[in-house]
Amino acid sequence: MTEDAAARRDQAGADLKTYLRAERDLVNSALDEILPPEDDSPALLCQAMRYSVFAGGKRLRPILVLATGRALGAEPEALMPAACAVELVHTYSLIHDDLPAFDDDDLRRGQPTSHVVYGEAIAILAGDALQTQAFVTLSEAGRRAPDPGPWLTCIHELSAAIGSAGMAGGQCMDLQAEGQCLNGEELRRLHASKTGALLTACVRIGAILGGAHDHTLGELTRYGQRIGLAFQVVDDLLDVEGTVQDLGKRPGADEQHGKSTYPALLGLEGARAEADRLLGEALVALKAIGSHGDTLAGIARYIVDREH
Ligand code: IPE
Ligand code: IPE
Ligand code: MG
Ligand code: MG
Ligand code: MG
Repeated sequence: MTEDAAARRDQAGADLKTYLRAERDLVNSALDEILPPEDDSPALLCQAMRYSVFAGGKRLRPILVLATGRALGAEPEALMPAACAVELVHTYSLIHDDLPAFDDDDLRRGQPTSHVVYGEAIAILAGDALQTQAFVTLSEAGRRAPDPGPWLTCIHELSAAIGSAGMAGGQCMDLQAEGQCLNGEELRRLHASKTGALLTACVRIGAILGGAHDHTLGELTRYGQRIGLAFQVVDDLLDVEGTVQDLGKRPGADEQHGKSTYPALLGLEGARAEADRLLGEALVALKAIGSHGDTLAGIARYIVDREH
């Protein structure tokens, strides 16, 4: 790489970081408005909901909604209810994923997990309430909109992505696969369901609210599926290679639970190569929207290169 090319790459990386930080701040303010105040009744549940949402987090899923919608010309304010909804669902999934019955983790986003602080029953309820709040938020946006049609489609997209054919199904496969030796196709299906489906839905929701036509929606869906799968491949890699300080969660948990992961199936180098291959396919799909896809391309690279 020439010095000029290296300088351009560093500048692009710095610009992306600034962009991600600014988007994260916007999302955090909107989430603050949406969630019930700490002293709402029942205070314990409202506090537990806020605790996990504001413990930290990259806000990658809402940022994908915003970036996809913006790429197609939608205004961020119009996209924000959907951006918040996907983060509420994601945070619910983390609370439940950490429970003793699932991965039994005591650290998340650099803080003690919900069940450690509030007990299992309240942690389960906080997850439930965050999930339902997501659909209150989406349906309220639909009721306010002159044309509720796209919002109804978004409600369908999100609910389909997190049920038995999506995230919940994938979490079931993940539990059943503990100690098992899955083949490549089985592992791809597991990861595409437990993590890929929600990330794909984020892209599709942004595209739908941005008014995407069939061809564009199809290509953006392909982008979402590739980065969605790559995201979990990298999460598996970070569980082997990352540090507790960087991750804010304990590494090594996958091996401890005998989880089916990409490094276990393909080795570290093989898993890294698979993430890169998926990134390449995601970038090809983005060609459908030309230079409007530059930010989405940056996010895809970030997903594969990230350290936490
Ligand atoms: C972690 O997601 C859970 C997975 C689906 C692998 P993130 O890495 O996006 O977690 P936060 O939101 O930044 O904490
Ligand atoms: C979780 O996958 C996927 C979810 C649906 C939450 P992991 O179990 O690998 O996520 P981490 O590593 O605990 O964040
Ligand atoms: Mg898990
Ligand atoms: Mg886990
Ligand atoms: Mg993991």
